[in-house]
Amino acid sequence: MHFEELQPSPSSLLESLRDIGYSIDTAMADVIDNSITAGAKTITIRFDWNDSEPWLSITDDGIGMSYLEVLHAMKLGSNSPLEERQENDLGRFGLGLKTASFSQCRQLTVISKKDDAITAMEWDLDLVLDSASDGWRIKVLNDEDVSKIKVLSSLYPSFSSQEHGTIILWRKLDRLDNFDSSVIREKKLNQLLGIARNHIEVTFHRFLNKSKGKKALQILFNGDQLVANDPFNQSSNATIELPEQSIYVDGKKMIVQPYVLPHYSKVSKEEYQKYAGGSGYLHNQGFYVYRNQRLIIKNTWFRLLAKDELTKLIRVRIDIPNTLDHVWKIDVKKSHASPPESVKNQLRQIISEVEYSGKRVFKQKGHRLEARVKEPLWIRTIASGKIIYSINKHHPLIELFNQKLGDSEQFELGNVLKSIEASFPSDLYFNDFANSPDRMEKPEIPEDEFESMLLTVAHILIEDATQKDTLKQQLLSIEPFASSPNRTINIIDKMEI
Ligand SMILES: Nc1ncnc2c1ncn2[C@@H]1O[C@H](COP(=O)(O)OP(=O)(O)O)[C@@H](O)[C@H]1O
Ligand SMILES: [Mg+2]
Repeated sequence: MHFEELQPSPSSLLESLRDIGYSIDTAMADVIDNSITAGAKTITIRFDWNDSEPWLSITDDGIGMSYLEVLHAMKLGSNSPLEERQENDLGRFGLGLKTASFSQCRQLTVISKKDDAITAMEWDLDLVLDSASDGWRIKVLNDEDVSKIKVLSSLYPSFSSQEHGTIILWRKLDRLDNFDSSVIREKKLNQLLGIARNHIEVTFHRFLNKSKGKKALQILFNGDQLVANDPFNQSSNATIELPEQSIYVDGKKMIVQPYVLPHYSKVSKEEYQKYAGGSGYLHNQGFYVYRNQRLIIKNTWFRLLAKDELTKLIRVRIDIPNTLDHVWKIDVKKSHASPPESVKNQLRQIISEVEYSGKRVFKQKGHRLEARVKEPLWIRTIASGKIIYSINKHHPLIELFNQKLGDSEQFELGNVLKSIEASFPSDLYFNDFANSPDRMEKPEIPEDEFESMLLTVAHILIEDATQKDTLKQQLLSIEPFASSPNRTINIIDKMEI
């Protein structure tokens, strides 16, 4: 046996890495991740069409890099995904800076300042050679080289007076379809950057917003200050915040926070439009997954639920720590991930509850009917955060029966009812409901039994209800008659009073 040296060819490897599916918005977000991890407080994005030679720069005031650190940062696969990362690290594969940049441009320049020293290095795909020995060599720029980069002339003076920080500069942006005319390409660039701006405002909304004890991150977009775009409209009173729940995987916690956004009748037209988020509520419903506060996946139900008109106001936030990256299979672009089966099962349970709350906002009619039921058989009580279902001991059918019983029998009936309450098969019921809500049925009360039940109750009511309409109204507010309004009305219509 012997070994052969098999070095990848730099130029073909780099060229193929360009097409792993970044778009300009996801690519910019990946570069911004590095700035945030480096502790930046202000990130300045600049771009210019520059007479058909467009460029884009992302400058931060983070900790910056030394000569060796820039060298390391420019290397493909600088950090292994198997390495344990700092808790607030937004990085993953040690590829982001390179793959994101090359997906958009052929020339990547990194200029960084740390400990009073400025280091500048550059990858230019047009200069990368085929052989591994020459191809992986990187260009190191000196002060003079940097001063000759014309597009930096307005940016560099203020950068060099910063204590520390980094400039990422993209030139040779060749992805704007070369066959189009220059005018169309310029328009296209502006359009794409408009999309990128929205993407950044939503992806980093939790950084752009001030949070407890932390100053908000500032991102400037060609001079404009970006504003947090919170997909849950948390500042509105009309947003329903459902109870937070936790899911555990490998002993690590994920937090699930469901929201139902305000129904259009509850907010101004402008506000309703704003949170529709471009492609609309129907499209934007679903899970929103955050890794270390940064949005990675939005508006998907992971095939656990169909995007229905009735659930369109539901958005569920999931927070995952970066220690669960491998479980969620986060991809290089940080724009795709898929939950493992165990997580899906837990999410399935959560959404069936959430689905109900979301639909209720629309089913105004059903909602009102429910509110009109004055004598339900089951009572739902919420006390100190706990939800309890119990039997309504004052329900007419129960009271009527009770009156016929002696003391010891009343006591026994009390015991029977308590045992029924205490053994309500909630786990089984919930599981069934979560898996196949459409197959769930209540036991049917046979026609004759229903009628005799109704007549029993009607007879006690008849004393003060001389009119059929009043009787109907009263019976329709009592269960089980309220759930079968047609049957109830038919029987009363046949009655002779
Ligand atoms: N703006 C920046 N400020 C400081 N360090 C940076 C910056 N950008 C990149 N780096 C360094 O370069 C490394 C490689 O970055 P990247 O290719 O995006 O991979 P990853 O983020 O997965 O580590 C980072 O881990 C970080 O140490
Ligand atoms: Mg990174």
